[in-house]
Amino acid sequence: MSEQKIQQCSRIMAELGLTVAFAESATAGWLCSEFALAEESGKVLQGGITCYDADLKVSLLGVPRKLINQFTPESMEVTREMAYRLEKLIPSNIQVTITGLTTPGGSETKEKPVGTMFIFVRINGHEVGARKVFEGSCEEIIHQTISAVADLLINELQQIKNNKHKSTIMATKTSKKAVTAATRTPEAESALKELFIDELKDIYWAEQHLAKALPKMAKNATSEDLKQAINNHLEETKNHVARIEQAFESIGEKAKAVKCLAMEGLLKEADELLSETEKGTEVRDVAIISAAQKVEHYEIASYGTLKTLAGTLGYNDAQALFEATLAEEKNADALLTEVAENYVNEAAASETE
Ligand SMILES: [Fe+2]
Ligand SMILES: [Fe+2]
Repeated sequence: MSEQKIQQCSRIMAELGLTVAFAESATAGWLCSEFALAEESGKVLQGGITCYDADLKVSLLGVPRKLINQFTPESMEVTREMAYRLEKLIPSNIQVTITGLTTPGGSETKEKPVGTMFIFVRINGHEVGARKVFEGSCEEIIHQTISAVADLLINELQQIKNNKHKSTIMATKTSKKAVTAATRTPEAESALKELFIDELKDIYWAEQHLAKALPKMAKNATSEDLKQAINNHLEETKNHVARIEQAFESIGEKAKAVKCLAMEGLLKEADELLSETEKGTEVRDVAIISAAQKVEHYEIASYGTLKTLAGTLGYNDAQALFEATLAEEKNADALLTEVAENYVNEAAASETE
């Protein structure tokens, strides 16, 4: 079954002129081998690496050990980071990464049993991740994972195919932008760089203060889902601080924070909302979600700007770091919406009845 799907993936990739690379942990190169058997492999397959042991994720791909310790080697966070790092190691349009638990003895828990697999795909910077739980033997889990990756790829590639006309228009716009960048005066270039560094100092302050404010929000939340969402994002936020430090380093600047008035205001408002609502009520949870989402939207706007500016200035390392953070901010925002829709809003409405 999977072979046919892989053939189809490979065919569409060739049609679209896209190349692919793999970094596999739990599937240990099996997926890459499947692609080697496809007819179009010569056109699309760039290569793959197997990093089964956690140490190899660090030494081969450069995944920060801190991230692995924080989230475990089998996690979406690590799988996503592997995809970012893979692009540098094996230049390609598509990066596919896999981690997961095919046998006992890893990081399995009740919530993350053996059979849990993490898949991450980047296609020209567009990204999609999937967490799946499969049953069966180690081999069966691997087969199901390969099939799931193929389904995910086919779906994404079909969408690209359908939007190809749109992409052509985008490509024309990009080439116009490149001419502008090439003809930018040195004064304009240094003004842009200054703006970029100012924005970086601003978000550095914002993330540091957010990391201090989130525990209070989690402590005041009643809903377990909300508590968990905030605590998870607290861990991500600490990593955002580390990524900003890496971004400073990548452009040869010392990391420095400058007070972000917007974040200061947003956190003040969050405090006010807490003092205006009663402890243990669902209304307070709604207030917390509202405050947290305002923060996320500010961060999404900031990282969107930083990503674009980094691209314009040719700071590729910084751009990749901001892309990773931006995806996590969007994900945090979506999770908060989910918590609100599933549970909290409903309960708050019934309280006031
Ligand atoms: Fe953040
Ligand atoms: Fe955030």
